Amino acid sequence: MTLGLEIFHNYGLNFLDRWAHVLAGITWIGLLYYFNFVQVPSFAQMDAAARTNAIDKLASRALWWFRWAAAATFGFGILLGLIPEASGEKAMFTRSGFFKSTEGVAIATGMLLGITMFVNVWAVIWRNQKIVIANARGENPAGDPAAAGRSATLASRMNTIFSFPMLFFMIGAVHFFPQGGFDTGSDRAIYWAVTLVLWAVLEANCLGLIGGKGQNLTNWIYEDHKRAIGAGLVLVVIWYALWEIIF
Ligand code: HEM
Repeated sequence: MTLGLEIFHNYGLNFLDRWAHVLAGITWIGLLYYFNFVQVPSFAQMDAAARTNAIDKLASRALWWFRWAAAATFGFGILLGLIPEASGEKAMFTRSGFFKSTEGVAIATGMLLGITMFVNVWAVIWRNQKIVIANARGENPAGDPAAAGRSATLASRMNTIFSFPMLFFMIGAVHFFPQGGFDTGSDRAIYWAVTLVLWAVLEANCLGLIGGKGQNLTNWIYEDHKRAIGAGLVLVVIWYALWEIIF
């Protein structure tokens, strides 16, 4: 038996980064589910003083871990595509034709959703939650707290919905999608056309660019967490069916 520092070799580094990526990912998505499934319904039942106190002391701490875990997940995830594989194979993103393979198309879909979620965290959720927190602390908020809370909720629910297919493709890229299907260039073009339309419509919708941010039909899936869970599962079925039909 030899005692080497394998963890500092290419294969060890790839593994180490993969571990860090998933560790940060579960922290991020765990808190996302806490906000959606636990905190929002509980806050709705609290009286105003208790809620204000909880926003100041509890939600602000949870949001710190949430947004930095999102940043770490993103950083380790990009790095994962740039470090040589544990098998000694070239790094994923540098392999020629990688993004034409089924593994490449699957991870690109997962990353599209993951990166969109990351941008939603920093550019929509956190930007608006800062206003909500400032208001709870009696500081001068840089906007209308009720409107900010609504914008953050819509993006947070969209992230919950996206997280289901995101993880499906993220894990499936290595463990499922490479096993079947052989794609041609035109198949791929159709897949990406449908995928990008689906993604753009959903993201535009949560930003209020389609039907506004009110309680209307287009926002039905965001109004409670059970609908968001249902929508996430439906989205997995739609994306999987698309994959099966096309490839
Ligand atoms: C924020 C954007 C994200 C990027 C850019 C990203 C990128 C990646 C990359 C490049 C891989 C390697 C895939 C492969 O080896 O073929 C991967 C795998 C993975 N990612 Fe992400 N990811 C992101 C978000 C997330 C999130 C939020 C989670 C939630 C837990 C997550 C969980 C995973 C898991 C479980 C794997 C598979 C590990 C394995 O099977 O060995 N990722 N990701």
